[in-house]
Amino acid sequence: MATTIVIGAGQAGAEVVSKLRAEGYEGRVVLIGQENYLPYQRPPLSKKYMAGEMALERLFLKPKEFYQDKGIELLIGQSALKINPIEQEIEFTDGILNYDHLVLATGSKPRELTPYIGRKINNLFTMRDLNDANSIEPYMKSGMRLLIVGGGYIGLEAAATARKFGVDVTLVEIEERILKRVAAKETSSYIRSLHLSKGVKFKEAIGLDNLKIIDNKILSAYLTDGSDINVDFVIVGIGVTPNTKLAEGAKLKINNGIFVNDMCQTSIANIYAAGDCTSFNYKNTLVRLESVGNAIDQAMIVAQNIMKQDTSYLPKPWFWSDQYDLKLQIAGLNTGYDDVAIRKGENNQVSHWYFKGSDLLAVDALNDPRSYMIGKRLIEANKSPSKNQIKDKDLNLKVLLK
Ligand code: APR
Repeated sequence: MATTIVIGAGQAGAEVVSKLRAEGYEGRVVLIGQENYLPYQRPPLSKKYMAGEMALERLFLKPKEFYQDKGIELLIGQSALKINPIEQEIEFTDGILNYDHLVLATGSKPRELTPYIGRKINNLFTMRDLNDANSIEPYMKSGMRLLIVGGGYIGLEAAATARKFGVDVTLVEIEERILKRVAAKETSSYIRSLHLSKGVKFKEAIGLDNLKIIDNKILSAYLTDGSDINVDFVIVGIGVTPNTKLAEGAKLKINNGIFVNDMCQTSIANIYAAGDCTSFNYKNTLVRLESVGNAIDQAMIVAQNIMKQDTSYLPKPWFWSDQYDLKLQIAGLNTGYDDVAIRKGENNQVSHWYFKGSDLLAVDALNDPRSYMIGKRLIEANKSPSKNQIKDKDLNLKVLLK
């Protein structure tokens, strides 16, 4: 009987095993994950879960019985240690397993503050997994003082959640504006104003210089502008790096992630990869898409190709973030944009349309699901409206789809 082993039980890994069964795979399926939980969704961790609005069971992608019913061997709390591609085997915590197909869904890990890596500091947190969210939860109380390092979506979502609890929040961002890596200044401004109105204090173009730590506890932070603030806890959201160590050990091609072709194959044909750990070509650029949508779509391609269906991945990037009552939806990738057209709708609906020349690349829709939906369809169909059409409030965007 053929065996497929999937390493990594996050969104991508869990999707691969369920898709394999859905596509009729009859061989042995093993899913290995080092966290001690059933595979779960990460996006709610910094949002509804941390806010106490979502129970643990609702985070799980599938109930335990699903894996039993589908004959999927779930090895959770176990780590894969080494891949031996010639022998077609992996070494893991409890022994050795042979495979016909191997799938790497090892995800990514949060970058840490360099000088403090490996140090035991009780009130310093990253925000990536369930243990992080559970450790932060006791600090989320009115009057606690939180320093957030990094103004990307993780830092901003943590800020919004913390303000719901009445936590005093200061956010430092080393670049001149929050969200610089992923969004235009228009989107940064909108989101900054929202947070300011909720009482978040921003320090942009300012980094963290030093922390005062006594008895493994941060008491205050010294910032690069010479100021210092007293804190009860610190959350660091300064980006992620792909988990490529196992793949490197197996001599797979790595390029800012485990490089995969459009069939989601690595440089060894019977080893596939899916999710945050992968990099691939999209519109002639090497990209890594840190998103649930990418994990799900790549997982499907992997399952189909293990089933010899010869399918290719056509990335359709989309992302979202929830902060307070704001629903931000993003379609496409804005890399290389040279202009942004703004479309204002009713109330506080607004969308920012990224162009390169006359080509539409991406849309940020803020409380504007309709613009998101139409923008996404236009980008996927490779259709570019003119900037004037986008700015024209009276134009029904739907006509652009025809
Ligand atoms: N001090 C302050 N800010 C910093 C520092 C530092 N030492 N180093 C980096 N930053 C800033 C970056 O300039 C950037 O604005 O932290 C921000 C990190 O943003 P992202 O790289 O987008 O990463 P993050 O917010 O951590 O999100 C990680 O999780 O939910 C997903 O979509 C999210 O894929 C992303 C991932």
